Amino acid sequence: MTMAKRRRVMAGNWKMYKTIAETRSCLELFLPLVAEAKDCDIVIAPPFTAIASAVELCAGSNVAVGAQNVSWGKDGALTGEVSAGMLAEAGCKYVIVGHSERRHFFHETDDMVARKTLAALGAGLTPIVCMGEMPEDREGGLTEEVLRRQFLGGPGSLTGEEFSRILMAYEPIWAIGTGRVATPEIAAAAHRFIRSCAAEQFGMEHALRLRILYGGSVKPDNIKGLMAQEELDGVLVGGASLDATSFASIVNYTS
Ligand code: 13P
Repeated sequence: MTMAKRRRVMAGNWKMYKTIAETRSCLELFLPLVAEAKDCDIVIAPPFTAIASAVELCAGSNVAVGAQNVSWGKDGALTGEVSAGMLAEAGCKYVIVGHSERRHFFHETDDMVARKTLAALGAGLTPIVCMGEMPEDREGGLTEEVLRRQFLGGPGSLTGEEFSRILMAYEPIWAIGTGRVATPEIAAAAHRFIRSCAAEQFGMEHALRLRILYGGSVKPDNIKGLMAQEELDGVLVGGASLDATSFASIVNYTS
């Protein structure tokens, strides 16, 4: 498959870490460190409670703010949920959808992922749709079957136009928070497979434009090797994004 030039996305998923005060002090350090990074999109996704402060701090900078989850509903009796419109109003530009922790701990299905993706697009947010296999899937040779099922049940149900507005993230569950990063070759093979699913469903042009981020134990010392793979259009970083210096060195890995 010939590669189109795709702009990199360097995203940090803070998960359930950082108070408002911690968000402020982290961003005050981080923003100047990445101010010269012009050739990529930079995103941080703090907890809901810190979004407004993060948006305020990032205003006028090259860093955009995302949320880590969104409701499929516009409004309604959905206790504890936050709508895409509310996130957009708060200043979010992105939202992570279908993270494996949400699939695992909160029983999110491919169908919910599809509905949340649509809700996000409807509010003008860019969804980062996550997928990835369990360790036993990989050991059992089921990786492609699992990725195909997650693709078809989630982003595969969109229209071509909707699909052109999403980002995807490949996050093998065995690599998340384990320190066991996928080798650049393993990650690239999975990305290639996801892109081939996109080509089958939406055609080659859409597939070549799709940006796929890799997530799972990305650190300053492995970013270069990962990003050397043309198939990797960026990264979704958990633990290493919590420290301003380490996330900045991931963003600035070329310099
Ligand atoms: P770690 O980088 O901590 O492995 O987390 C990855 C992740 O889940 C990002 O969404």
